[in-house]
Amino acid sequence: MIVTIDRLGHLGDGIAPGPIFVSGVLPGEVVEGTPDGDHLLHPKIITPSPDRVKPPCRHARACGGCQLQHASDAFVAAWKQEVVANALAGQGLTAPFQPLVTSPPGSRRRATLSARRTRSGVLIGFHARASDTLAEIPDCRLLHPGILAAFPGLQALVQAGGSRTTELSLQVTLTRGGPDVSVTGGKPLDSALRLDLARLVEAHGFSRLTWDGEIVALRDRPALTMGQATVIPPAGAFLQATAEGEQALLAAVRQALGPQKRVVDLFSGTGTFALPLAEAMDVHAVEGDAGMTQALDLAARNTPGLHRVTTETRDLFRRPLEPDELKPFSGAVIDPPRAGAEAQTGRLAASAIPVIAAVSCNPVTFARDARSLTDAGYRLDWVQVVDQFRWSTHVELVARLSR
Ligand SMILES: C[S@@+](CC[C@H](N)C(=O)[O-])C[C@H]1O[C@@H](n2cnc3c(N)ncnc32)[C@H](O)[C@@H]1O
Repeated sequence: MIVTIDRLGHLGDGIAPGPIFVSGVLPGEVVEGTPDGDHLLHPKIITPSPDRVKPPCRHARACGGCQLQHASDAFVAAWKQEVVANALAGQGLTAPFQPLVTSPPGSRRRATLSARRTRSGVLIGFHARASDTLAEIPDCRLLHPGILAAFPGLQALVQAGGSRTTELSLQVTLTRGGPDVSVTGGKPLDSALRLDLARLVEAHGFSRLTWDGEIVALRDRPALTMGQATVIPPAGAFLQATAEGEQALLAAVRQALGPQKRVVDLFSGTGTFALPLAEAMDVHAVEGDAGMTQALDLAARNTPGLHRVTTETRDLFRRPLEPDELKPFSGAVIDPPRAGAEAQTGRLAASAIPVIAAVSCNPVTFARDARSLTDAGYRLDWVQVVDQFRWSTHVELVARLSR
């Protein structure tokens, strides 16, 4: 069967009339393959797109970690911006776009890897697309070299504490004290395993090891720099995936807010925005996870010269800040999880806050929330796509809303 690809769906699959879904293709390409329901399998490109490039990573074919390595950077940038423009159009909104910023190759400082102990050793990598198969990725072009350098230590951890029957998940974050590793799916801890793991943490220079939620070794502080502050995040806490992405998001948030006296940071995490912003303004940071608010609070108190930083642990889905509580602030940052912030946005819409820096990892919920703000009289001044998940279909953005 031969088809011509119309467009890419939000998971990066090519869509031909039918619809027929084809992976690894680009709009305009003529493709021949074997039909299987609404999919075309084993696609052979008959007419390639001018946007097609040779995947820069030798693992691209086997590994499901990246979906768009076969597309040029310019194509991916335009596509991600279009995804946001389409989501906005779905809500009847348009906005000027600021130039997109993409994180460089080799910059992912946080990744969740899968691992398995086998008869012949240990496999660590990402899953192949929609598959149980693990692809080994020693030359991954996405991960920071610091994470790749941790692979021998990770393999030793899996050898010591993985069973042959269960796959392990390894969340690795590069910190100033060394890789901070959190493992789930390992063998139950007993005293011999604890000793083994602690020895491996020392030998391989990890900062901290968390095993199924329990901290089993702390060799050095898993310190992160946020502005002038040093944050010690709880294990598994949210962190922007690349330092470059974090800086691009922060620059756009600063630009959106402009000079302010006192702002509120909603869904603040451990202070990615709150702590650097506090170098120039008072910040009230609100976050649902008590461990993260405590980390932010401690970091602020240990950093001389910051403006006033206050923190609050609060479930912003169930108990959003009310318009009255928003009165003291001349600006707001809001960076919710993928579900968006319907309840809190409703309260912002009813508030008098003049400017909002909205950060989002989901264009659809962002557009929904932006619409409720524009319905209440806000203007959507601009949107900037920040591509910190290079070669993936994931889209992040910052927008300025004001009135
Ligand atoms: C996308 S992260 C952003 C964190 C922070 N702004 C950053 O850039 O590091 C979303 C944050 O919302 C928090 N969160 C999730 N659900 C929440 C809720 N119902 N109420 C308050 N915070 C919540 C998560 O713990 C997480 O820290």
